[in-house]
Amino acid sequence: MNNKYQEELNLAVRVAVEAGKFIRDKIYRHKVAETKSCLSDLVTEVDRQVETYIVQLIQQHFPGHAVVGEEQQGNCTGEPGGAMTWYVDPLDGTTNFVFGLPFCAVSIALANHDVPVLGVVHDPFREETFTAVRGGGAQINGSPISADSSIATLERSLLVTGYPGNIAKRPRMHLVNYKQVIDRCNNLRALGSAALELAYVASGRLTGFWEVSLRPWDVAAGMVLVEEAGGAVSDLAGQPLQLTEYVDIAASNGLIHKELLECLEWPGDRSNRE
Ligand code: IPD
Ligand code: CA
Ligand code: CA
Repeated sequence: MNNKYQEELNLAVRVAVEAGKFIRDKIYRHKVAETKSCLSDLVTEVDRQVETYIVQLIQQHFPGHAVVGEEQQGNCTGEPGGAMTWYVDPLDGTTNFVFGLPFCAVSIALANHDVPVLGVVHDPFREETFTAVRGGGAQINGSPISADSSIATLERSLLVTGYPGNIAKRPRMHLVNYKQVIDRCNNLRALGSAALELAYVASGRLTGFWEVSLRPWDVAAGMVLVEEAGGAVSDLAGQPLQLTEYVDIAASNGLIHKELLECLEWPGDRSNRE
């Protein structure tokens, strides 16, 4: 039993569940969406209220820690990148939320020098809380989970991807050979919440995931979940994933990882298709 980060884990679970109740309560009520970088990049008052709530509680309990929240638009508290930096996505899947599609999550991670060490992804609609602390395995509502070890080939895999909310980043999707993937896997989904999709890879409901141009708060919690569930996480070139400003990620049960990465590539093209 790994008791490291136990206090941080307890707090993250508590605030994620509370925040989730608020999100669940608001989804079918009138909510006004505003746009951020473009018409398809949505934000609501709920995103901001939930983030304020989570960030305040973290600051109250851990005043020395840095907190990076999506809606603060880069104005983080404390010095990010240090031994205790939180990454908070108060509502991952805002577009689903705005359209009344109940597939979204609260995502909270703690990173040590930009290596995520704790991840909590909470789905308020199914009351499922996915948790992991580095070295301590991954759980759903307290019970162990693992990535699907029964599938070792792409043709048997159920994959998932996502499309950047920021339209200016969408051309980067073509870094990846979608046609080749669709022709070679069992099938491909796009569910609209990167954090929850990673949690589903960690719990064996999906075999693999990739997306380009995500942000650190989209992936930090899910990364720990997948790795602690026995899966693999990398960038699209198979290198260790860095929490840089924009993140291109591939995650899988581990067994299909190499085949997935090869399949994402355009034949004979190892260059960046910016
Ligand atoms: C979005 C979701 C979505 C992904 C987008 C993200 P948000 O996050 O994770 O699945 O495809 O790229 O921006 O904006 O709903 O927090
Ligand atoms: Ca997000
Ligand atoms: Ca969000």
